[in-house]
Amino acid sequence: MGKKGRVFSGARPTGRQHLGNYLGAMKNYVALQEDYDCVYSVVDIHALTTMETTQNLKSNTLDMVLDWLAAGMDPEKSIIFVQSHVPEVMELHTILSMVTPLGKLTDLPTFKDKVREQPHNINYGLVGYPVLMAADIALYKADTVPVGVDQAPHIEFTREVVRSFNYRYNCNVLVEPQMKVTEFPKVIGIDGQQKMSKSLDNHIEMASTPEEMNKRVMMMVTDPQRQRRSDPGNPDVCNVFSLHKIFSSPEEVKMIDRECRIAGIGCVDCKKLLAKNLNTHLEPFRERRAEFEKHTEDVVDMLNDGAKRASVIAKKTMQEVRSAIGLL
Ligand code: TRP
Repeated sequence: MGKKGRVFSGARPTGRQHLGNYLGAMKNYVALQEDYDCVYSVVDIHALTTMETTQNLKSNTLDMVLDWLAAGMDPEKSIIFVQSHVPEVMELHTILSMVTPLGKLTDLPTFKDKVREQPHNINYGLVGYPVLMAADIALYKADTVPVGVDQAPHIEFTREVVRSFNYRYNCNVLVEPQMKVTEFPKVIGIDGQQKMSKSLDNHIEMASTPEEMNKRVMMMVTDPQRQRRSDPGNPDVCNVFSLHKIFSSPEEVKMIDRECRIAGIGCVDCKKLLAKNLNTHLEPFRERRAEFEKHTEDVVDMLNDGAKRASVIAKKTMQEVRSAIGLL
């Protein structure tokens, strides 16, 4: 109704979210709710492709959803649900697999990365990961998919599969989606080297207590050339400064930019200021999260309701798909 179209995005249940997740994805998800009809999914079946154990799957799902809600993803505005609660996606996955050349999947850079990362567990589901992702998007007839650039090959793949399906069954049932790249510079972890990620343990959790926050920020690697307090530093190569640019006031950023270069401010004071600003920034988030956490039954109800609403769309698409194929 007056909205620009339908957004679908999914994220694997990785538990508590970090600043990289927030700046790279969640913030965008929240903003898109105003202009688009949004469907957001915790893709727990995708997670199984890389999981050795499902021991933490439930708690990781809930923890991520708590962060989503606290950040402002709103079930009144969007459909928020767990992928496995709407099993039609697995049916569409199988159907789309029939119009997917196997070589296309094994050629994808994301697949090759996984082969390198988990050579002992190259399962069939891992090869089909992009087909399941295409099914996610196509099932809800999303025309817009907000993702990071690393997902570009998957979106291109989705477009091709949708086209092949429509061509093979001579119909126009599925929608070719557009990728909407999240415009945000890569958030580097506390190691000052690699992209912030939980698996590298270089992350800063949004839900950290102020004490945890201070500790993590103090661990951050700064300009490696700056050895002593009296050495001048270079903010341009310092990850603490990158975060100041996001979370501190323009005056503070200017001050640090100036003082660091002349050794007027040391790394410890610079980090203290960052931790303080991060804590101030995240305080409302923590309060909202604590509130949701007190009522996890309501959060589960909300997810069930999201699945019901998602299911209505999914069932309708599958009827059209079956009829286009000519299944009895
Ligand atoms: N592959 C995505 C990732 O790793 C997650 C995902 C699954 C997804 N299904 C999706 C993203 C559909 C967008 C749309 O980040």
